[in-house]
Amino acid sequence: MKHTPIDQTATWKRLAEHAREMQGTHLRTLFLDQTRGRGFTRQAAGLTLDLSKQRWSDATLALLLELAQQAGVKEGVQALLSGAHVNVSEDRPALHTALRLPREASLTVDGEDVVPGVHATLDRMASMVERFHSRQWRGATGRPIQDVVNLGVGGSDLGPLMVTHALADCRPRDAHHVDVHFASTMDGSQLADYLNRFNPETTLFVISSKSFTTIDTLSNARTARDWLLARLVYDGIQGVDEAMVMRQHFIGVSAKPDKMCEWGIAEANQLLFWEWVGGRYSLWGGIGLPIALLIGMAHFRELLAGAHAMDRHFAEAPLGDNLPVLLALAGIWNVNFLDIRAHSILPYDGRLEHFAAYLEQLEMESNGKSATHEGRLVDYSTCPVLWGQLGPNAQHAFYQLLHQGTQPVVCDFIAPLRRYDDVEDTATRDHLKGQHRLTLANCFAQSRLLMLGDDAIDEPGERPGHKRYRGNQPSTTLLLDRLTPASLGALIALYEHKVFVQATIWGINPFDQWGVELGKQIAGETERMLAERGGHDAMDASTRGLIEAVWRAEEEGHA
Ligand code: F6P
Repeated sequence: MKHTPIDQTATWKRLAEHAREMQGTHLRTLFLDQTRGRGFTRQAAGLTLDLSKQRWSDATLALLLELAQQAGVKEGVQALLSGAHVNVSEDRPALHTALRLPREASLTVDGEDVVPGVHATLDRMASMVERFHSRQWRGATGRPIQDVVNLGVGGSDLGPLMVTHALADCRPRDAHHVDVHFASTMDGSQLADYLNRFNPETTLFVISSKSFTTIDTLSNARTARDWLLARLVYDGIQGVDEAMVMRQHFIGVSAKPDKMCEWGIAEANQLLFWEWVGGRYSLWGGIGLPIALLIGMAHFRELLAGAHAMDRHFAEAPLGDNLPVLLALAGIWNVNFLDIRAHSILPYDGRLEHFAAYLEQLEMESNGKSATHEGRLVDYSTCPVLWGQLGPNAQHAFYQLLHQGTQPVVCDFIAPLRRYDDVEDTATRDHLKGQHRLTLANCFAQSRLLMLGDDAIDEPGERPGHKRYRGNQPSTTLLLDRLTPASLGALIALYEHKVFVQATIWGINPFDQWGVELGKQIAGETERMLAERGGHDAMDASTRGLIEAVWRAEEEGHA
């Protein structure tokens, strides 16, 4: 069946017309309605979503909901959650939501109930984690593992990195603490630092790679393996051989067991996942091992339960009360109708330091596309440029542009309401709670100032141009009661589903990433040229010059 392109529908055209009418309406005018705050706020799964500072009205939302209906969002959600082949270009489901189904659930996909396999992996993770936490996972010389280094990149790095940082204060009290670290960059800079500092006897590497072919990760893994072998085997520690090092110092997480075996990962040390879990949606299973090692399996299961609560809300709530749908529609309105193509993620909680980087991959690798399912090039914008930073730090960096620059930017402010309740020392607790209050005050003040501009402050007299704030920058505020495994799970799932809803409306596939393939291919060719010192004649003049500069530098290095 041929789809009518979404921008050819009557609703899209009415939205475009409506946007022209709204263009002249400042947010401060919309806020003359005192009920607006409540009217555009919804709650679910422990999260409060305040969309009242979006530059929209009830009429806008009604039209956007109509658009969502027409684009088949309801049917799309159903297809996603039931395991239909929503990843059309790769002809497979996208079932990250199955990774957080409870044990008693069942979900038959392509003739097989996937839930038992999911829980078998979780149980295998649990027994691995237990061995670390009880000092039973020992290095080749018999000492308990102390440092675990995750070697992975993209989805095999950003999710676990973000969550371990966010939940570092959820470590179980009664377990042997293992320190978790991350090395992703292909230049080896993070890894080199660890190799300088860590004791090989007590260091274990988790090689995380869905494909087990990613050159960045495999380069780091080779360096790590040789480092361990050189120090534990060739330096002649009595009784230690290569097989022991491989068995005691490496775990592999991948959808490719054969490749892990080939590389030398013992079968007992392999955590498998499925082709139907996209890399950037994979922190909920084996890729989440570093998370479980840090916070314990009970907390890891709370993370899954929080995400599952959001999945249920996504499946069951009417579109007009559905948090992921509303967040997605605000985005569609901004990008496609108000022409706002920059989106900043601003958490007001230091624990969410890596959240923006995580979302950059989730949103831009998923929806940075311009071909529809049918292969037609879209005539409308899709994913905006998304970036972010901890809000309080960004206030001293790029907020200048948000307040007085020439770009319209939409911001997501994210903050927990409660913090530091369990700090034991009273004086310190009071100080920290005061700091938390100060942080919330800044968060609320910034979104208000972005919204109202000059009107946020009652100051008499004219101001010179350089002291004026035009306001009218839209934003969303997302409040968590507290940052816990469950609320973080719900928050991540909220954004995952937002991405899916937007992709459904734009008619694009959020689950592939063909746009990164060509770069990998030509990087391989370029590396061969660099190594073989030739074959670059057909390159453009710039690339030729750059390659020759490397050769010259290498020659000087040898001289
Ligand atoms: O190159 C992009 C990408 O494929 C991401 O989608 C993925 O998260 C990352 O590389 C790492 O891939 P893998 O887990 O297969 O090593």
